[in-house]
Parts: sequence; structure tokens; C-alpha cells
Amino acid sequence: MSTNLTRTRRYVLAARPATTTGPIEDGVLRYEDDAPVPPIEDGQVLVKVEWLSLDVATRGWMNDVRNYLPPSPLGGAMRALGSGIVTGSRHKDFAVGDRVSGLVGWQEDAVVHGSTLSKVPDGVPLQAALHVLGISGQTAWLGLHDIGQPEPDETVVVTAAAGAVGSIAVQLAVAAGARVVGVAGTPQKCAFVRELGAVGCVNYREQDVAAAIAELAPDRVDVLFDNVGGAILDALLPHMAVNARVVLCGAVSRYDKSRGPVPLYNWFHLLPNRVRMEGFIYMDHKDRFAEIEADLLPRVRRGELRCQEHILDGLKAAPEGIQVLLSGSNNGKVLIRLGSD
Ligand SMILES: NC(=O)c1ccc[n+]([C@@H]2O[C@H](COP(=O)([O-])OP(=O)(O)OC[C@H]3O[C@@H](n4cnc5c(N)ncnc54)[C@H](OP(=O)(O)O)[C@@H]3O)[C@@H](O)[C@H]2O)c1
Repeated sequence: MSTNLTRTRRYVLAARPATTTGPIEDGVLRYEDDAPVPPIEDGQVLVKVEWLSLDVATRGWMNDVRNYLPPSPLGGAMRALGSGIVTGSRHKDFAVGDRVSGLVGWQEDAVVHGSTLSKVPDGVPLQAALHVLGISGQTAWLGLHDIGQPEPDETVVVTAAAGAVGSIAVQLAVAAGARVVGVAGTPQKCAFVRELGAVGCVNYREQDVAAAIAELAPDRVDVLFDNVGGAILDALLPHMAVNARVVLCGAVSRYDKSRGPVPLYNWFHLLPNRVRMEGFIYMDHKDRFAEIEADLLPRVRRGELRCQEHILDGLKAAPEGIQVLLSGSNNGKVLIRLGSD
């Protein structure tokens, strides 16, 4: 089935930013309020986008640098994950009214190939496909279970613990029977992390991280799920136990490179303690997403997995959302709710 929709609103990536990190200058993104919607070709689906996911990777895709995907192409809608409702389809697996998620881009109506979309399970809010059942949940699950592999009663430390990925990692580690300690940037975020089941939470802006962890994890740390890198990672390395695992999930403290390099002084502690440190990219494990969703979905339905949402309204708020995320002033998953401006 197809539709007669021909115009939409979108943000086009018009130019590459002058620097690979930090604020996005004027002229990089162009807002268009009367952009064409291409006809739906065989195999394609038209999606009315209701939610956009803003991720650290979104800023990276603006640059002319390949990370785990090639750069977002110039002249097209800025690449982003999103979720919405099918309003037209020439793909056998999708019908009008289906709830879907995928790489829809910064636009209110997206024509994409059906093979790039997933259906959002019944009874789950559309935006959950962008956090607990999407990128944040898959990332937390893969990092914690594949690399961290916490045993019951082991101590797990999670940094950026109140954030989207971090808060899910905390809940999964608690569910695995581990003793969890978070690291976060405000007393409110620390209170939230404790509410999720952590036995403690270090406010790195007000406390000495090394001293606080020594107190909260006297038997040392078996798994460090690290989202921030830099000085916090360095402060935690001497507290790793023998045969501990360091999950390198992200390095949000390092994404603004204008602050200069931050050396790791304490790497040598990894050697005598036989600590394994390993990075991963969730997109490499697409073949596991169905298995991970099958594990997460019942917990989401039972209300056992939560993610705070930091919602900004309207497509025009998307560039601001990137700044909010990179400045660390977000409180949970940064989402853009479309159709409200
Ligand atoms: N490996 C993968 O495949 C993969 C996939 C998705 C995401 N990630 C990574 O996962 C991490 C979390 O992403 P997210 O989307 O869930 O974001 P998020 O944790 O919801 O938001 C980022 C948080 O980082 C903290 N932060 C910001 N600047 C900081 C600094 N200088 N030092 C310490 N903490 C700082 C802030 O919390 P505080 O107020 O607590 O500081 C901020 O809220 C990111 O590093 C991201 O790149 C990795």
C-alpha cells in the first residue's frame, strides 16, 4: 500500500563540522520545512517518525571519519535512530499501522528499506525501542554479559551509572546477583542509581573517586563497566581484583578533544592482576539482537527494567539535544518527540 504524502520537515547535513568534537557550528545542519518525500519503491516503507534517539555516535556521524558506520552523507537527512508508525509500504513484511524502529534520520517522514527496520513489540511504548529495547539495552546487555560476565556476589562498578546505557547495566548486574556500585555526576543521579539496586554511588564531582571506591568495594572490583574513560577510569584501575574485567563501552569524558589528552597512569595494575580490558561495538552483534530482546522484553513488560527519559520537543530541538548529551546535562536517554512543534 502507498500514500500520497509528498512533503515533510527534516534536518539535512549540509556541511561537515570544522572540528570532530564539540559544538556544531551554524551551517552544518539545514532545517527544511518543505522537503520532498520520495515515492516508495519496491521493498521500501514510509514511516511517520514519532521519536528520535540522540546518541554520542550521532555527533560522530557528522564528521568525515568512519567509525563503525561511514559518515552520514551530505545533502541527506542527518542519520539517527528513531521509531514511528508505518504509513505506506511496498515491503511484504510491513503493513500500514505497524510500529517500527530503525535508522530513519532527522525527519518527520522517512522512506527506508524494510530490511533496515524492526517491529516494536506489542505493549511496549515506541520510545522504549530506542532505549531499554534498543541501542542502550543491547549495548548494556552485550557489554555486561559477553565481556563483564559478573558472577553472583562479585562487585560491579558502572560509570555514567544514571545514564541510558549505565542505568540499564546497573539493573542487569543487580539482576545477575552482583554487588553494584555506580559513579555519577550529581546527588540526584546517585540517588536514582541506588534506587535501581546499587549498594552505593560515588558522586565524582564531589568525592575522591579512588578513596570512595576503596570504601565501597573493599574486596576490589571484579567488573568495571566504563562509559566515561579519562581520569575516572584511571582512578578505578588500581582497584581491580585479580582476573577482573574492564568493559570499554564508551569514553564520554574524551569526546571533547579540545580538553587535550588524558593519560592513563595506572594501566600497569592490569598486568599483575591479570585484568582483561576489552572494547566492543553493539552494531557488530546485530545477529544477537533477537536473542537479547527475548531476554529483555519480559523484564520490560514486568516493569523490572527502567530508563529515565530526557525528552526535548520538536525536530528543531535536535541540535540542542546533541549539545545536552555531550555536556553531560542530560538526565537519562535523550529523545526528541516529533509532531509537537
Ligand atoms: N560501545 C557501544 O557500542 C556503545 C553504544 C552506545 C553507547 N555507547 C557509549 O555509552 C556511553 C553512554 O551513552 P548514553 O547514550 O547512555 O549516554 P548517557 O550516559 O545517558 O549520557 C552521558 C552521561 O555521561 C556523563 N558525562 C558527561 N561528561 C562526562 C565527563 N566529562 N566525565 C564523566 N561523565 C561524564 C553524564 O552523566 P553524569 O552527570 O553522571 O556525569 C552524562 O549524562 C557513551 O560513552 C556512549 O558513547 C557505546
